[in-house]
Amino acid sequence: MKIIVINGPNLNLLGKREPEIYGSESFENYFKTLQDEFPTIELQYYQSNIEGELISKIQETGFSYDGIILNAAAYTHTSVGIGDAVKAITTPVIEVHISNTFSRESFRHQSFISPNAQGIIIGFGLSSYKLALYSFIK
Ligand code: DQA
Repeated sequence: MKIIVINGPNLNLLGKREPEIYGSESFENYFKTLQDEFPTIELQYYQSNIEGELISKIQETGFSYDGIILNAAAYTHTSVGIGDAVKAITTPVIEVHISNTFSRESFRHQSFISPNAQGIIIGFGLSSYKLALYSFIK
């Protein structure tokens, strides 16, 4: 089973960025623990701060991978293009967020991804990614 985690803008700063919200662990470190925990899954990771690059990666993987775990970060709330890409592909997408976006500013309550996601996991810290992975194991 081939699954990719796609992270959007500023998530390369996890561990340093607002640790009171996002925790103090880097994503690279967390990703290694995920790979160790799910050795039978071919798990990949991609991060970009650039909207078009995220769209290209969704298109590139969205017809052949078994799953996409997508944290589009701030683009979740603004990007019609990423929302359209999620709608266009056949690979199921799980939308994840580290923080509980609904307990934060109202602009974070809107998502262009949710209407076309298979499921949404919000607010469990980095464990949101692990819960998303479990959802692919039937
Ligand atoms: C986030 C929530 C977004 O509102 C924010 O812009 C992020 C991270 C999260 O994982 O909690 O960058 O997607």
